[in-house]
Amino acid sequence: MNHAIKALLLGLCCALPVLVSAADEDPDQAAAHTRHALMELMGWNMKTVVAMSTGKQEFSVEAAVIQGERLAQLGAMIGDAFARDTSAAEVKTAALPAVWQDSEDFAAKSQALIDNATAYAEAAAGGAGPARKAFIQLGGSCKGCHENYKAE
Ligand code: HEC
Repeated sequence: MNHAIKALLLGLCCALPVLVSAADEDPDQAAAHTRHALMELMGWNMKTVVAMSTGKQEFSVEAAVIQGERLAQLGAMIGDAFARDTSAAEVKTAALPAVWQDSEDFAAKSQALIDNATAYAEAAAGGAGPARKAFIQLGGSCKGCHENYKAE
């Protein structure tokens, strides 16, 4: 057997128990887990944007454009990641029931993030000055959603 395929199959065998146990996870717990992971990634990418916008890290056009594009991609996952209504479930979460009660507005807030992250990536291509202005809008779209849909 081809060496690479052999290595791949070996790797899959080891991963299988993990994948199977993930499938066994309670669906509400799994949904909370997934959206938590998405938001953690959102925070991870935003950290660099904040550091570059506040002068803690040297501004780089390349890094700023990448972060903006990644945040737009992550933003596009919010709808699916929050699709399952867990408001009546016993899960540890900071998501307020309003996420599913005002789902249209929640979707609009997700779209605002996608738009502002895309605008940030475009502005960042023009340098630190335009990027800083776009950063304010971008940060506002995280805050704008958290204010209404995330518990303290
Ligand atoms: C459309 C709404 C929405 C937008 C936009 C949004 N968030 Fe969130 N965020 C939430 C909700 C709801 C939670 C709580 C999730 C939970 O506990 O299930 C959350 C949680 C978090 C958390 C805590 C991790 C966790 O799940 O406990 C971080 C960090 C975070 N968001 C970062 C960000 C950043 C950074 C941005 C902007 C780049 C952003 N979010 C944009 C709704 C949003």
